[in-house]
Amino acid sequence: MSGTFYVTTPIYYVNAAPHIGHAYTTIVADVLNRFHRLAGEKTFFLTGTDEHGDKIAAAAEKEGQTPKEYVDRISGLFRDLWPKLNISNDYFVRTTDRAHKDVVRIILDRVNQKGDIYYSDYEGLYCFGCERFYTERELVDGKCPDHLTEPEVIREANYFFRMSRYQDWLVDHIEKNPDFIRPERYKNEVLAFLREPLEDLCISRPKSRLEWGITLPFDDRFVTYVWFDALINYISALGFPDGERFKTYWPAAQHMIAKDILKPHGIYWPCMLRSAGIEPYRHLNVHGYWNINEGKMSKSLGNVVRPLDLVDIYGLDAFRYFLLRDMVFGLDSEFSEEALVARINADLANDLGNLVSRALTMVHKYFKGELPKGGAPDRGDDELRESALALLDPYDRHMRELGFHKALIAVWELIGKVNKYIDTTAPWVLAKKDRERLATVLFHVVEVLKVVSGLLWPFMPASAEKIQEQLGLGKKGAQLTLSDLARWGGEKPVRPLCRAPALFPRVEEKERKRRAQAAEKVAEEKPMEIISFDEFKKLDLRVGIIREAQAIPKSKKLLRLTVDVGETRTVVAGLAGHYNPDELVGRQVVLVANLAPAKLMGVESQGMVLAAVDDGGVHLLAPDGRVEAGCRVS
Ligand code: ME8
Repeated sequence: MSGTFYVTTPIYYVNAAPHIGHAYTTIVADVLNRFHRLAGEKTFFLTGTDEHGDKIAAAAEKEGQTPKEYVDRISGLFRDLWPKLNISNDYFVRTTDRAHKDVVRIILDRVNQKGDIYYSDYEGLYCFGCERFYTERELVDGKCPDHLTEPEVIREANYFFRMSRYQDWLVDHIEKNPDFIRPERYKNEVLAFLREPLEDLCISRPKSRLEWGITLPFDDRFVTYVWFDALINYISALGFPDGERFKTYWPAAQHMIAKDILKPHGIYWPCMLRSAGIEPYRHLNVHGYWNINEGKMSKSLGNVVRPLDLVDIYGLDAFRYFLLRDMVFGLDSEFSEEALVARINADLANDLGNLVSRALTMVHKYFKGELPKGGAPDRGDDELRESALALLDPYDRHMRELGFHKALIAVWELIGKVNKYIDTTAPWVLAKKDRERLATVLFHVVEVLKVVSGLLWPFMPASAEKIQEQLGLGKKGAQLTLSDLARWGGEKPVRPLCRAPALFPRVEEKERKRRAQAAEKVAEEKPMEIISFDEFKKLDLRVGIIREAQAIPKSKKLLRLTVDVGETRTVVAGLAGHYNPDELVGRQVVLVANLAPAKLMGVESQGMVLAAVDDGGVHLLAPDGRVEAGCRVS
């Protein structure tokens, strides 16, 4: 083992279901973690959920649940998603974990004993969306730059962290460690912010206003400000202060975040660590935003991209590859399904998939899977070998410098070279006249495939392992380390090589539509499951009144309903052909109100109306008398 590596994702708020942005950060962290495993390092990978604060308390109340019930449910959505995206995290931290809360109190006590906490009256401009106070100069046209809402004036007594004390130290630390915050643009952003005097940080909320948080160890009338609580997850999950993991991994810590939370990570967190007498993290890695139609993704705009929808249609590794190939780490990127399909067809089906399939077909056809070593290499063979081995250093550098798209471009250059090498050497011609030369050529092709599969493993673990199985290798995944890959011909097959179906079938436009429709059908027709009474109780059924009903363009089955359940919901229902939209308006329906939103034909459905379905058609359920909109069904 050479070295250690520790990577974290943000701990995500549990006020909404995971979307493509969360998936991206977590996949990027996974790719980097897997790369360090390939490099033979001892690694630890942390993700989790952020469960305290105003936002969560408000979301729970809206759903009619206690905060605890609510956070358990949504945190579960995140925890269950990660294995489906092949995320190899070692631990999942929750800020409601007892061990985490204990560490938050330890840190608060340390910082307090250091004299860095004081109590004071404060009047400030507070954004409830961000859960923090803003200074006038941070506002844009008097509004919060993130939420575009005017902050409210709040006056209350609170505890403050003397962050200002650490301003000079932090500037000095960033200047002496130029890769502390990277890419550089974000380092510059933090330094620009630090050019103005740093204000102290309000770190408490009075329980009279908010109860859902960690009680301050030195004043039980207050809970801890959610950011002061959340950032500490990165050390509480390692068993701070005495845990072995903390000692091993903390010195190698790298945080992955998007630009939205640069300030808490680039400023608050290093100052908190310094005050508590803990070394700062090693790197803060900041990426840009995935945008949809040149705008931000947001639940209210109804343009949230759900990762599993794409994975169901296109496959996990194609999705992972696309995210890493299309975003330049640090810059914003525009998400589009067309771009995803183009990448699958060109890079995966055409370049990589064809290479694997034709190479293995030839080894099978000409040597029954048992490839002999062949004869002495010629110049073309040597050039191919050198190209493959010369890739290892730049690949390593790109990965360590977060140039994931560059690493992939470099691998694809090699794939292009070997495809060309096959065309030039024409093994199908050699098969008729020179079997020794044929073996030499195929040996070189197979060796390059080994290197390619190893380098692609962090990005596309399942596909890379499939290639390694087809190559008959004894080692696969992280076992086939970068130093193994550097030994040309060193990893011998332990089984005959074999052929398998295409790794990445082409996605034709027609096929894409068929798959999207099939996925929609599956989403509509969930199979019945036996559930316990406790599970049944989780259902939030309400009577709603349909205020509007419209056909959805290009859909034969679906109608878009606006349903009043005390609040207005958009619901997509398979009622077309059974009801005219006009006859639905004013009708009472029963709505499943706490179903996770689902996108059908581009419209986000925020619930489901209940109906009896038989051969005669679809019959909407409704109470047998008039009740108020929003009335619960029990
Ligand atoms: O901020 N593009 O949680 P959060 C790319 N709980 N990444 C995106 C994205 C987008 N459009 N939208 C979100 C919080 N992300 C706090 C963190 S950490 C101690 C506390 C990703 O649920 C990205 O990683 O709002 C971003 O930083 C994070 O989700 C914000 O997640």
